[in-house]
Amino acid sequence: MSIKHFLQFRDLSREEIDHLFVRTRLIKERFKRYETYHPLADRTLVMIFEKASTRTRLSFEAGMQQLGGAAIYLNTRDSQLGRGEPVEDAGQVISRMCDLVMIRTFEQEIIERFARHSRVPVINGLTNEYHPCQILADIFTFIEHRGPIQGRTVAWIGDSNNVCNTWLQAAELLDFNVHVSTPPGYEVEPERAGLFGTDHFEEFSDPLAACRGADLVTTDVWTSMGFEKENDERKRAFADWCVDAEMMSVASPDTLFMHCLPAHRGEEVAAEVIDGPHSVVWDEAENRLHTQKALMEYLLLGRV
Ligand code: CP
Ligand code: NVA
Repeated sequence: MSIKHFLQFRDLSREEIDHLFVRTRLIKERFKRYETYHPLADRTLVMIFEKASTRTRLSFEAGMQQLGGAAIYLNTRDSQLGRGEPVEDAGQVISRMCDLVMIRTFEQEIIERFARHSRVPVINGLTNEYHPCQILADIFTFIEHRGPIQGRTVAWIGDSNNVCNTWLQAAELLDFNVHVSTPPGYEVEPERAGLFGTDHFEEFSDPLAACRGADLVTTDVWTSMGFEKENDERKRAFADWCVDAEMMSVASPDTLFMHCLPAHRGEEVAAEVIDGPHSVVWDEAENRLHTQKALMEYLLLGRV
C-alpha cells in the first residue's frame, strides 16, 4: 500500500481537504470542552527541525500529546543530520522507530528524498518552496470567519516565497483567486510554485491595486529563513510593500488580515493593521494546532 505524505498542498485532494476541515471543527470543539480524545495512543511523531520554529514545533508537539501520542524533537545541531548522514539513510532509520515524521528543512528536494525512503507518512513543516500546514490553518481560519473560500479573492503582498507558493497551489485546488504583488525581480515562478497553470492568480506591480476588493489580505516576512544574506537588499526592494491602512481600506469592507508569523511591524505590515480590527492572526496561529491534529489523525488512521 502506498504511504500518504503531505509534502506540498496538492498532495491532498479537494475532498480530503474538506474532510480534514470537518474533522478539525470536531477536534477543536472537543479540545475546547476539555474532552479527552486519544486516537493516537502509543503512536510516535518525530519532528526534525533544520530551521528555527515556535508555532510549528509547539502545535505538532502539543497536538500529538493531546491525541494520546508522543513527539520527539530532533535538530540538525544535536543529531547526525548535521554531520552529513545521507538523508536517504536517515529516512530509513528514523521511519523504523516511529509512526509519523514532520520535517522543517531547506530545499523541497531534501524532504522528497527522505519521504521516498520512509516507511511512514512525512509532513512538510516548511521548506524553502512550501509551507502546506500553514495554509491548511489559514484557509480553515478564513472559512470559520467568512464561510467558503471558493470564488473569493486573496491578496498576497510581498515576497513570492514558500507561503505564497502554497497559497497559489491551494487556489488551484480549491478554486479561488490570488492577487500577487511583489517588487520587480521577486515575481512568482509558476514552476517552482508547482502550479498546473496561471488561471488562479494575477500579478500586480502596484500593491494597492492588488488589495482592491480582496476578501483577505496577507503577507509574510521580506526575508525568509535561509536567505538572511539578502536582508539589506530586500529591505530596500520591499520598502513599498508594507501592508498599511490605505491598502486595507481599498479591500472588501469585511476583509481579513492574516500573517503566518513571526511578523515585523513596520516592515511587511504596519502595526495598526496587524493589531487592527481586520486582523485574525491569533486565531490563525491557534488553528495550526487543530488543523494539524486532523492531519495527523487522517495520515495515521484514514477517515474515522
Ligand atoms: N508560522 C510558522 O510556521 O511559525 P514558526 O516558524 O514559529 O513555526
Ligand atoms: N517565509 C517564512 C515563513 C516562516 C514561518 C520563512 O520561510 O522563514
